[in-house]
Parts: sequence; C-alpha cells; structure tokens
Amino acid sequence: MTVRRSVVRGVGAYLPARVMTNEELSRKVATDDAWIQQRTGIRERHLAAEGEYTSHLGIAAARAALANAKMSADAIDLVVLATSTPDQTFPATAVTIQAELGILKGAAFDVQAVCSGFVYALATADLFLRSGSFQRALVIGAETFSRLLDWSDRTTCVLFGDGAGALVLEAEEQPGTMKDRGVLTTQLRSDGRYREKLYVDGGPSTTGTTGHLHMEGREVFRYAVGMITDVVDAAFSATGYGANDIDWFVPHQANRRIIDGSAKKLGIAPEKIVITVDRHANTSAASIPLALAQAAGDGRIKSGNLVLLEAMGGGFTWASALVRW
Ligand code: ACO
Repeated sequence: MTVRRSVVRGVGAYLPARVMTNEELSRKVATDDAWIQQRTGIRERHLAAEGEYTSHLGIAAARAALANAKMSADAIDLVVLATSTPDQTFPATAVTIQAELGILKGAAFDVQAVCSGFVYALATADLFLRSGSFQRALVIGAETFSRLLDWSDRTTCVLFGDGAGALVLEAEEQPGTMKDRGVLTTQLRSDGRYREKLYVDGGPSTTGTTGHLHMEGREVFRYAVGMITDVVDAAFSATGYGANDIDWFVPHQANRRIIDGSAKKLGIAPEKIVITVDRHANTSAASIPLALAQAAGDGRIKSGNLVLLEAMGGGFTWASALVRW
C-alpha cells in the first residue's frame, strides 16, 4: 500500500555578509581565538546588518531553496518558520515571508523550539503534508541571535551567529517502505523543568523587553549528548535503521565537542558528519538547514542518501529526524 511522504525538492541558505572572527571578538571581550576554538570549534560567525531582519534572512534562504527545487513560490501552500528571534512579537514572521514571496494561499506560521526549532518545524510540515491538508511546504529556520546577546558577556556572546536555511518539501505517494524517499520519522521531546538552564530574560508578558540570553553552559553540555543519543536511538527504533546505515549526520551546530561526543556514542563515523559550526557558530534553528544546504550544494548529500538530523536546545527541547534525500 502506498503512503504519502514529504519529499525534499530543494534546499537553500543565506548568510549575512558581515563576518566576525574570534580575533575581532577578542578585541571586544576578554577572550581569545584559542579558548573559543578549543571549547567550541567556532572560528567565525556571520552577523546581520543594521536593518537586516530575520524575515530578510528567511526570504533569501527560501528563494534559494525554491530556485534549487526549480519551483515557483506560488506552488507553495504552507510556510513553517522556526525562529526564536521574530521580527516582531506578532504577526508571525512566517506571514511576512509568505507575503514577500507572493504566496497568496494556504497558511504560514512560526514554530518556537529554540535550537530544536527546525526539526519541530519539519515534523509539523511533514504531518500536514502527509495528512493531505497541504501539498508543498517551505520549512525555514532563520535567526538573528546576535540581537539577543549581551555583547559584554564572554560566556555567551562568543557562541552564536545569524543565518537562515530552508527546505522545499512536496507530498508524494511512495511505496510505503523504509526505502522510500522523504521524511521517514521525526521524534520530538521537551522537558520544561530545565527551562532556566538556557533562556532569555525578557518577553512581552513579563518585562515588555526583548531581554538577553543566559545559559548554564556546563549544565547544557552535561545533558546534551545523552538527550541527543536517546532521541536518535528512538528514530533508529522507529525505522529499523542504525548508525551504519546513515550516509550523512547533520546535527544542530552548537558546539564541536557536543557533535563529536554524540557521533562517537552513536557509533557514527567521523567522515559522515557535516560540520559548519566553525564558520557559522550556533545559529539556533537555522543551523541544520544551513548545514544541509552546504552539504547538498557541494555534492556530498545526493538523492537517495539517508540523512540523520538532530538538535537539542532551550526548554530543554530535543529532536531527531531521518530523511531519505
Ligand atoms: N573566553 C575565555 N574564557 C572564558 C570564556 C571566553 N569566551 N567564557 C568563559 N571563560 C572562562 C570562565 O570564566 C572560566 O574561568 P575561571 O575558571 O577562571 O572561572 C573558564 O573559562 C571555564 O568556564 P566554563 O564555563 O567552565 O567553561 P567550559 O569548559 O564549560 O566551556 C562552554 C564553556 C563552551 C559554554 C561549554 O560549557 C559548552 O560548550 N556548553 C554547551 C553549551 C552550548 O554549546 N550551548 C549552545 C546553546 S544550547 C544548544 O544549542 C545545544
């Protein structure tokens, strides 16, 4: 019996032009390139220009993904944007992207799950496409985390950057086996008891301000690898696949040590890991589609490849997905 699946038609990304190296950052706060690289693997990050908003980054990534899919925007009937840095408190930044792309049908909304946001958005779009509610979706991760940072706090400001990435998904009947193309499983988790380990100290209902990011870095690190490996194991159990079946591991790009630790515990070979954290830093919900665009664009990820995605972040939230490209 055939099943409807969400098949990847295109991928695209956008990074703001401005690059800030560790060396430049070390002139602003008491840090240095060696400390940042050794602890995180980050060498540089991109920063949005004044007047350049999350929607602008998302629109550019969406356009790139549509061009890659050879699809015009009016074919899209669902826009799901993962972001924790919306242009405004409301309306959803997704509707700005929808309007600027000239999409006049269907629905557009934001999903907020911090660094796990892209996998949450992918899971949401996948359910809508598989249910038959919509036919073609743009799933976007776009962030301007630079706007949430306290640039005098060296423990957080060195870790993040701005950027956006997008996937075009289309519903298609597939044979109904684990060899199908498309999204094969998504696994979402959260545990709000950890919400104060990584949070922003502002919001419309509390302070009336945007606030700044705070993190207990060691605590996040302590939980990250275990949560990531558990949710990836759940994706393996759901599909019958294992670490050896994976062609590409595209993790959320928070920190090189978390990525390498997770891959090692899962038994995924180092040469299968896609790494962009060195050049992008942590772009939260944008990091996975940015990495996908990089690896598909340079020919590593090919049609038919089995791609494992995972993320963990504020909430805590954590999530995984298996996608046959
Ligand atoms: N430059 C130089 N020194 C620094 C810096 C900096 N940027 N930041 C902190 N330090 C100092 C501290 O003050 C401390 O000094 P002290 O020993 O004199 O007190 C020392 O370095 C060690 O500080 P720790 O916080 O213990 O450093 P740690 O080795 O834990 O590394 C880090 C910090 C990189 C944040 C680490 O905890 C980590 O990787 N955590 C994971 C968090 C993460 O990646 N979060 C991303 C968001 S969540 C997500 O996306 C999953």
